[in-house]
Amino acid sequence: MHSLSKLHSFGLQSQCLKFLEITDLSQLKEIREHVFETPHYFLGEGSNTVFVEDFEGTVVRINLKGKDLQERNLDVLLSVQAGENWHQLVAWCLKRDIFGFENLALIPGSVGAAPIQNIGAYGVEIERFIESVSYIDLTDGQIKLVTREDCCFAYRDSIFKHELFGKCIIVQVTFCLPKRWEPAQSYNELRELVDPSPRQIFDKVVQIRRAKLPDPVKMGNAGSFFKNPVIGQVHWADIKSQFPDCPGYKIDEESTKIPAAWLIDRLGFKGKKIGGVGCHPTQALVLTNDGTGTGEDLMSMARSIKSAVKNEFEISLENEVRLIGKKGMIGL
Ligand code: EPU
Repeated sequence: MHSLSKLHSFGLQSQCLKFLEITDLSQLKEIREHVFETPHYFLGEGSNTVFVEDFEGTVVRINLKGKDLQERNLDVLLSVQAGENWHQLVAWCLKRDIFGFENLALIPGSVGAAPIQNIGAYGVEIERFIESVSYIDLTDGQIKLVTREDCCFAYRDSIFKHELFGKCIIVQVTFCLPKRWEPAQSYNELRELVDPSPRQIFDKVVQIRRAKLPDPVKMGNAGSFFKNPVIGQVHWADIKSQFPDCPGYKIDEESTKIPAAWLIDRLGFKGKKIGGVGCHPTQALVLTNDGTGTGEDLMSMARSIKSAVKNEFEISLENEVRLIGKKGMIGL
């Protein structure tokens, strides 16, 4: 048995039967034939995965490293191996005057995991910079490439959660960053910056995140636990009439996105605990592990939040994190 507590940022004391670390593509090709025989779970830095139970299979950590930079007319093309750390990449780019990623500073996790959930924060989603994603097709062992269009990106969503789910391992992401930079300031707290430099946006995002999100090194967590729900206009009008202070962001004529944090906060969960699992006191969307939490604590906290939100607002929250049980992914 191998402990998983240090392999996922939520830090539950779960274990797996076998653990492998991939630092070279040839190793991936070798294990490929066995992945359909016994359960395998492929992991980056484990910042969006929670091992709720002992996993009865092999956990494979993708730790491929390397970067390659090229210029193409008005753009910079940056190819990065899946195992590079996301925030270090953001800082590395900034130092070399390659701009665009600043709003996504301090997002935990690896580069290879970024396109899967289309990481996003402070008004920017990674899809806007993705040129292509290379993956190993587990069914035939070939390296294949999908372009941004083929990735079917949406809010915290991509082809890697659907058609390609369980069938591929991302090995490299190629980003296209325009040399001409413009600040992305749609997010309220960034609007106050006047004619900011990329470094100022980066610093501000780091400051906001440090102020409200718990540092996973100090307090186990996996970032936002639920996605922000998108609801229809009739439903939104109904909520707004009952709860006039509920925030909402209009997506299009038919739909509005509501902060799940507001719904959870409104129901009084902030600061509450079940065993060692808590609802974070400054960001209700983040569940935490004080080091003594168990999978059962987490499931009961998440289920009680989900059912309270359903009862009060008629909204079904969906997990943002991946929950892994004995044989693989599980729901709430
Ligand atoms: N709010 C509350 N109570 C709280 C926290 C927030 O009522 O405890 C309300 C406030 O009205 C606030 C609104 O919720 O204005 C939105 O909160 P926040 O700006 O903190 O963002 P979020 O919607 O909770 C999303 C992402 C985060 C990302 C931030 C910033 C999702 C699921 N989460 O959170 O991403 O950092 O926006 O852009 O979309 C992650 O995915 O792990 C993550 C941290």
